[in-house]
Amino acid sequence: MNAGVKPPYLPYGRQVIEDDDIAAVVAALQSDYLTTGPRVGEFEGALAEVTGAAHAVACSNGTAALHLAARALDLGPGTTTIVPAITFLATANAVRLHGGDVVFADVDPDTGLMRPEHLSEALSRCPGGKANAVINVHLAGQCGDVAGIHHLARKRSLRIVDDACHALGTTYSVENALHRVGDNRFADLTCFSFHPVKTIAMGEGGAVTTNDTKLAKFIARDRNHGMSRHLDDFAQTEDAIDASGQANPWYYEMDAPGLNYRVPDILCALGLSQLAKLNRFVTRRRVLAATYDAMLHQLAPHIAPLKRTPAVMPAWHLYVALIDFAALGIERAALMRRLAAQGIGTQVHYFPVYRQPYYQAANPKLRLPGADEYYRRCLSLPLYPAMSTDDVTRVVCALKRAIKR
Ligand SMILES: Cc1ncc(COP(=O)(O)O)c(C=O)c1O
Repeated sequence: MNAGVKPPYLPYGRQVIEDDDIAAVVAALQSDYLTTGPRVGEFEGALAEVTGAAHAVACSNGTAALHLAARALDLGPGTTTIVPAITFLATANAVRLHGGDVVFADVDPDTGLMRPEHLSEALSRCPGGKANAVINVHLAGQCGDVAGIHHLARKRSLRIVDDACHALGTTYSVENALHRVGDNRFADLTCFSFHPVKTIAMGEGGAVTTNDTKLAKFIARDRNHGMSRHLDDFAQTEDAIDASGQANPWYYEMDAPGLNYRVPDILCALGLSQLAKLNRFVTRRRVLAATYDAMLHQLAPHIAPLKRTPAVMPAWHLYVALIDFAALGIERAALMRRLAAQGIGTQVHYFPVYRQPYYQAANPKLRLPGADEYYRRCLSLPLYPAMSTDDVTRVVCALKRAIKR
């Protein structure tokens, strides 16, 4: 490195936008459609193909996807949904926005993932020991015991939503069968986000995948005001159909009020272009994560990678290091500032959601020690496909300097 030349800042995550992505967006801008047009359906088809689900419904962001899922499964007033305590706010909020209650489950302190025993313990805290649904979060792109959660959830009659906002491209095997996150073998619905730091970027974008045709139909309708223009959906045939038996061209029908959670054609053009690069992005993320894993050995035992779940091939969205700040004699904020001074961005994913004032007010005595222990130690280091392995070396060297000072 040249003396005096400041190396570029490495954020904890960022999009990779290439010339063909830009060309795809320009072509959409020059087309007849800015909002819903042909690229929405094309993107949905491509996402269904990539995930292996029967249906994919695109929407405006991952929060909208979760909210649509909560509405589709009727997780409203009088229902209870179990949500792991380590996740982004949106996972729990989506249920609250529909009026359902949330009960938080604890997580494994070394992965941040909910295990079946955490689900079981959370169930014991639900009214009458019963819940209606569970949202399983694939934190950082890694999933846990998906089959174990599924087994317990079905035994207890819970619907299952996967929050896979971090995990597009993750695969795992169960009894020698390979599964893709989003194929819904072990879930009713899977929600994705295409926010710029995620595996593919659309600016804002989200989707729900499912194998349930009825749920897919509900979600597609609900994201567009609850409207349908399909002949088969019409109840008021007198208003809907002309003398020749065709739908009146102006007519649409609504059987329940929905939302405007549509995603525009412009963003689907970007999504389609990015989706074609998913394998390359995921492979790069895995190489960078493996480089971190190898280098962090030098900083054991006080700094370690997340514990790995057997039989999972994560499409790492985040590279989380678990750091024993107390043993190193440094506060997390101070370490983050020292790293920032060396051009290294970091972030904390996440402050336990159950400790947010809104949720804590509902259950002030709740303590989830696994989530607290995970939160005490987690720090996300830079990870995105445009990084080089030299960048990883730079991060780890900066980390060494920062803890030595
Ligand atoms: C786990 C998780 N769920 C849901 C969301 C919400 O996605 P979006 O930002 O696209 O609304 C995020 C976004 O960061 C997330 O990390």
